[in-house]
Amino acid sequence: KKVGVLISGSGTNLQALIDSTSGASGSSSSQIVLVISNKAGVQGLERARKAGIQTLVVDHKGFGSREEFDREVDTCLRKAGVEIVCLAGFMRILSGEFVKKWRGHLLNIHPSLLPSFKGHNAHEQVLAARVRISGCSVHFVEEEVDAGAIVVQESVPVYPTDTVSSLADRVKRVEHKAFPAALELVASGQAVLRDGVIQWSQ
Ligand code: GRF
Repeated sequence: KKVGVLISGSGTNLQALIDSTSGASGSSSSQIVLVISNKAGVQGLERARKAGIQTLVVDHKGFGSREEFDREVDTCLRKAGVEIVCLAGFMRILSGEFVKKWRGHLLNIHPSLLPSFKGHNAHEQVLAARVRISGCSVHFVEEEVDAGAIVVQESVPVYPTDTVSSLADRVKRVEHKAFPAALELVASGQAVLRDGVIQWSQ
């Protein structure tokens, strides 16, 4: 399957997806054909270029509305023949129109064990709640933010001495396993979204 990845930053999850899909063994069901960032100059773009993947910057500031920005992103993805879209640290909320178009083919990674701790400051919420376990979730995207059927989750311990940055580092290490695993499940057809729930097959 042809995959497009949307990023806004450092792109360590993008790197994990590149590494898992570009192996010479050909064991992956997917191939990243396009990386789009809404910010110029971010490290993720450099990672894509190094891997020989086409990159585009679509700056949201150049558009009058969220829908117009999303339509441009959609056009770029379709031109490249993208079939599955991965949101890997993409810090823009996508419009209902875009989400509807890509429903069942759009994956996001969130740095908590959903449905707990939705939103942009998940690690702060985890530390404030003093829970002892956190993790990450890769899920199909629905219009409601950080909702949608969960494909893969990984857990990590939370230590009393943790800071946002120490916890984020630990969670990221499992994100880098979870996202490639979830993409493979979806690209290979083992996890298919039907009426908002996943139908699993072998
Ligand atoms: C990750 O923690 C992801 O869960 C969140 O944004 C971060 C992106 O990190 N949505 P990176 O750009 O992949 O390093």
